[in-house]
Amino acid sequence: MRLVLLGAPGSGKGTQAKKLAVKYRIPHISTGDLLRAALATGTPLGQQAKAAMDAGQLVSDEIVLGIIRERLRANDAKKGFILDGFPRNIAQAQSLDGMLRNLDQPLDCAVLLDVDFDVLMQRLTGRRTCESCGATYNIYTNPPRLDDQCDRCGATLRHRADDNEVTIGNRLRVYESQTKPLIDMYRTQGRLETVNGVGDEDAVFKRMLTMLEPIAKGTRKPKLPPLPPPLPVKSKPPAKSAMRAKDRPPIAKSLKTQGKMPFNTHVKQAPTKKTSVKKVSGKYAMKKPASKSGYAKKKSTKTAKSAKKDKSGKRR
Ligand code: AP5
Ligand code: MG
Repeated sequence: MRLVLLGAPGSGKGTQAKKLAVKYRIPHISTGDLLRAALATGTPLGQQAKAAMDAGQLVSDEIVLGIIRERLRANDAKKGFILDGFPRNIAQAQSLDGMLRNLDQPLDCAVLLDVDFDVLMQRLTGRRTCESCGATYNIYTNPPRLDDQCDRCGATLRHRADDNEVTIGNRLRVYESQTKPLIDMYRTQGRLETVNGVGDEDAVFKRMLTMLEPIAKGTRKPKLPPLPPPLPVKSKPPAKSAMRAKDRPPIAKSLKTQGKMPFNTHVKQAPTKKTSVKKVSGKYAMKKPASKSGYAKKKSTKTAKSAKKDKSGKRR
């Protein structure tokens, strides 16, 4: 199963992706998590991404595509994956389609988790994440048993740096302007599924499973994305009439060098003079070209005659 989870910040992409990954035994790939991990370990990539993340803006496509390209090539992604937070704009979505086309692993669908904006702020300001195992809580809707301590592993819970009201506002604006257009794109291509993301986590998960059932059973085949438009032709050769015949390249040669030769086209080669090698007194010598055909003979006699004319045009 190969899915993209779409949805505003706080819509529950991470929460649902974790459950789906366990259910279908496929990796949960979150660009946000990968970038935060790079930031935490102080890699150059993390440092480059920091400013954009702190401001609630998108990290450059170049960085994010590099991360995703490498991650999708990993062995565990061959049996499927759940992409969370990627793609985030049209350019990323088109690059993803290109990557998956090359891997011959088309997306099954993009799933939109639909949640009203007024719910999102409460979900984001109340989120707490375990710094060790990544479990997510919410102090309003799903609090941990002990304050700031993970129920599962006992590690400390953290408030994400970008979950403050100013940055959340920016993230929501970026979602509206750059990510929302993806919804229309996938819908137009017939690859969008929408799931109501309001209600408790388990109720949303049940809806997800019902929607994904035909894909899990293999009764629904993925719809392929449209092919990218053909590359523009770089430069046109001058019109034939504007070129003197002697300057024109031989047709077969020019088509071949431009790589535009029709697949099965057979190019008749110009006849070459036949030469053979004959043994002359122990050494090898070239034999004269074979005698010409009738038409060729006539033509060469004519050429010989015209050569006999002097400069004034009179025959010598
Ligand atoms: P990212 O980490 O992807 O953040 P996001 O998209 O803003 O989404 P969130 O992780 O905040 O929300 P979520 O939908 O996962 O919700 P969750 O399940 O946690 O990206 C962070 C930054 O990285 C970006 O701003 C950008 O700078 C950069 N970045 C990432 N990807 C990028 C890309 N492709 N290109 C460029 N830049 C990129 O739930 C939220 C809260 O709600 C939790 O507390 C949870 O417990 C609670 N909750 C969940 N479901 C329910 C429910 N059904 N009922 C009640 N509470 C619920
Ligand atoms: Mg998330």
